Amino acid sequence: MPSGDTFSVPPIGDFVRRYLAAAKVSIDPFARNKAWATHTNDLNPETTAQHHMDAEKFLLHLAAQGVKADLIIFDPPYSPRQISECYKAVGLEVGMKETQSALLYQRVRDAIVPVATEDAIVLSFGWNTVGMGKRHGFEQIEIMLCCHGAAHNDTICLAERRLPELQGALL
Ligand SMILES: C[S@@+](CC[C@H](N)C(=O)[O-])C[C@H]1O[C@@H](n2cnc3c(N)ncnc32)[C@H](O)[C@@H]1O
Repeated sequence: MPSGDTFSVPPIGDFVRRYLAAAKVSIDPFARNKAWATHTNDLNPETTAQHHMDAEKFLLHLAAQGVKADLIIFDPPYSPRQISECYKAVGLEVGMKETQSALLYQRVRDAIVPVATEDAIVLSFGWNTVGMGKRHGFEQIEIMLCCHGAAHNDTICLAERRLPELQGALL
């Protein structure tokens, strides 16, 4: 079954743990209660994450501290409805702009680049394979589809590696 605790779905958890095992420093800006990464954050203060900031602000905060990670995990809410539910749960006002997943994804992905090492891997979870993309200097290295049965959407698990020759592509 699909779960809001994405990595509690066994094959997805295995996918994440496989990359974590090879990582030295990792960042999870949408961690919920998963304390798997070195640096964890979740907007909701009722979660056990180390920080409770907006994901973009959290990444900019780490960048200002000079943190560099070779693994960054991107597991945000997957739809405008899920974003709205997350924001309302923490008492934030939500309008059209705040619930647009494309806007949330773009500002968080842009903020991942300054904390990524030259050969960093980014794991993205959701309903598409857009990921960091060449625009941010990344190439796809693995895609895993997790079928949840019935009429549920698959969870698409994407791994991308930063390519030195594509760095600066965004700027
Ligand atoms: C799909 S869940 C993450 C699940 C987690 N990876 C796991 O396996 O348990 C997405 C999380 O993002 C958090 N969230 C939503 N909007 C956020 C934002 N703008 N900044 C930081 N966290 C946010 C939610 O509170 C929610 O816990």
